[in-house]
Formats: sequence, structure tokens, C-alpha cells
Amino acid sequence: MLRAKILSTGSSLPQRVLTNTELSQMVDTSNEWIVERTGISERRIADKDKATSDLAYEASKRALKAAGMKVSDISMIIVATISGDMSMPSTACFLQKRLNAKNACAFDVNAACSGFIYALSTANAFIRSGLHKNVLVVGAEILSRFTDWQDRSTCVLFGDGAGAVLLGAHRGKSGILSTHLYSDGNLWDLIQVPAGGSRMPASKDTVEERLHFIKMKGNETFKVAVKTLGSLVEMTLRHNGLSPSQLDLLIPHQANHRIIQAVASRLGLSMDKVVVNINKYGNTSAASIPIALDEAVCSGRIKKGDYILLESFGGGLTWASAMIKW
Ligand code: ACO
Repeated sequence: MLRAKILSTGSSLPQRVLTNTELSQMVDTSNEWIVERTGISERRIADKDKATSDLAYEASKRALKAAGMKVSDISMIIVATISGDMSMPSTACFLQKRLNAKNACAFDVNAACSGFIYALSTANAFIRSGLHKNVLVVGAEILSRFTDWQDRSTCVLFGDGAGAVLLGAHRGKSGILSTHLYSDGNLWDLIQVPAGGSRMPASKDTVEERLHFIKMKGNETFKVAVKTLGSLVEMTLRHNGLSPSQLDLLIPHQANHRIIQAVASRLGLSMDKVVVNINKYGNTSAASIPIALDEAVCSGRIKKGDYILLESFGGGLTWASAMIKW
């Protein structure tokens, strides 16, 4: 059976670390509150001269090197992001230029924190249909540029980074076994950047009212996320005829340590089967899953034949899962 297989991974994190203690000097918060309510201790912040495609480029170069693949062999580049270099052209086109990937078409996917699984699922469909053989899928964000550093309810949450995977066509039993994508636009207003689009174009007023920054109804989002993700992971396992005990690794989107724990406990999974790095990087939206996957690969946590479940939840609302046999 023709499947898409992850051939390699790569990631890129900015050097600059912003700690909770530094944040507590900027807004009315404390290290204790942030750690207890979110699990985050620090996050990375991109240098001023970097854009999202720069992080995407570093992560992609590492994935290409790890696969030993020539850039000319890539026929499609998909970047999942909500913090692209510009609203037009796409960040994927900037990445294509940097990589000199002349044979690739390139486009972005916007599904907020679920963006990486949406992009992976799109690439999977193109590969399984036989239309594309090698696809580069990247999740990349510089959320610090869209963060309101005066709003303690959001500024403690987000961070910058990028992760990339190279997918290749493969005949066999391993690879991406399933993807499931869901949305509910009725709940669009739980997480949004109100201004800068066609509904509320950028103006002096929108800038003064800080409407170009991320706004989130955190507590409402939290409740929907826990409920939705619990059903999502159970359905994904059932769809693949697997029991929770057969799962080798859960790689969740890193939005909140309590959400991650709730999903793990719903499946009866011990936390040593869950990849958690939110303490170091915060919520990097579309980048969080490919960064966590790359860390798991590099640290030898993943072996051939392992069943790996990816899951995410984010603005839109959107939620998504992917089951992989490594
Ligand atoms: N420091 C100290 N106190 C704070 C802070 C802070 N940084 N932020 C909020 N508080 C206060 C609030 O003002 C409130 O005070 P009050 O009780 O006096 O009114 C109190 O803490 C509790 O606030 P809640 O919002 O109810 O806190 P909660 O426990 O829900 O935690 C959080 C907030 C961390 C945002 C949580 O709700 C969450 O993680 N939500 C889900 C996020 C998520 O999954 N988003 C989806 C992906 S994001 C994307 O797609 C881009």
C-alpha cells in the first residue's frame, strides 16, 4: 500500500530564553502561577532581525541533512503558521526561495495550533494519491510578534520556534496510518487576532487599541480542549484498531501541561509515554508538535515499528490527530 512516511525531522529554536522571573518584572504575574497553571518555565524569543521563514529554513535544512535528500527532489513545501513573514506572499514561498527548491510548489496552511497536523494530512493525501513523492512539511511561528506584552493572561503562554519533517512515498505497513481533521467556526472568537485583516483593516486606532495581538478566552478554551481532545484520541485509537496500551508515544500540542495530563490520564497512559517540552518552549502553536517529534527522534525515544499518536487543538476552533507507525 502506498503511504507517506516521515523520512527525517529537524527543528530550530531561537537562542534567547525569556524566563518566568523576567516576565514577572513586565506584568503582574509570578513564576509560581505560570508553572502551576501552565507548566511553562521559559520560552524562546526570536531575534529582531529574524522572520518566521528564517526559523523554518534552519529546521528544514536540518531535516534535509538528516534524510540525505537533495533539495531538488522536493516537489511540495507546506508551512503551517499563523505568524508568517507577511500576509502575502506565503511563508512557504519565502522558504522555497531560501532553500532554492526550484521544483517545489509552496503554500501555507492556517489552522492555528492544529496547523502542523493539517499540513501533514494535506501532504499525506498528495503522496497517497501518487501526485507528489517528497513533501517538506514545516510548522513555524514567531508568536512573540503577535503577543501583547501588557496582557498577563496571554503573554506568559507563547514562544517562538520551528520544526520540519520530510515525507516520502513508501510502500509498506509503516508510515502515516490515519489523519483526522475537525473545525468549529462557531467558536472562532475564543482565540483571535482581531485586526489587520479585511474585517478590521490596520489603522492608527487598531494599533492604539492593541487589536493586532492574540486575544484568548483561556478558561473557556481550556474546557473545550480537554473534552474534545479526550474523545479525539480515543476515536483515533479505535479507528486504527489499537488499545491505549499498544501506543508507544503520545506527542501532543504543547498548550498547557494540565491539558496534556488530562488527555494522558483519559487513556491511562503513564507520562513517560508522553513527550512534554512545554516547560522549555511554551506554546509555539503550529511548531510545537514537529519540535517535540524532532526532540523525541534525536534523543532516541522512537524505535522502528512504534505507534505514535499526534494530537492538537487550537484557534478556529480546529483540532486534529495523526497516527503513525514509525
Ligand atoms: N499571572 C497571574 N494571574 C493570572 C495570570 C497570570 N499570568 N493570567 C491570568 N491570571 C488570573 C486571572 O486574572 C484570574 O484571576 P481572577 O480569578 O481574580 O479573575 C485567575 O488568574 C484565573 O484565570 P483563568 O483564566 O481562569 O486561569 P486558568 O486556570 O484557566 O489558566 C490558561 C489560564 C493558562 C490560559 C488556561 O486557561 C489555558 O491553558 N487555556 C487553554 C489554552 C489553549 O489550549 N489554547 C489553544 C491553543 S492557542 C492557539 O491556537 C494560538
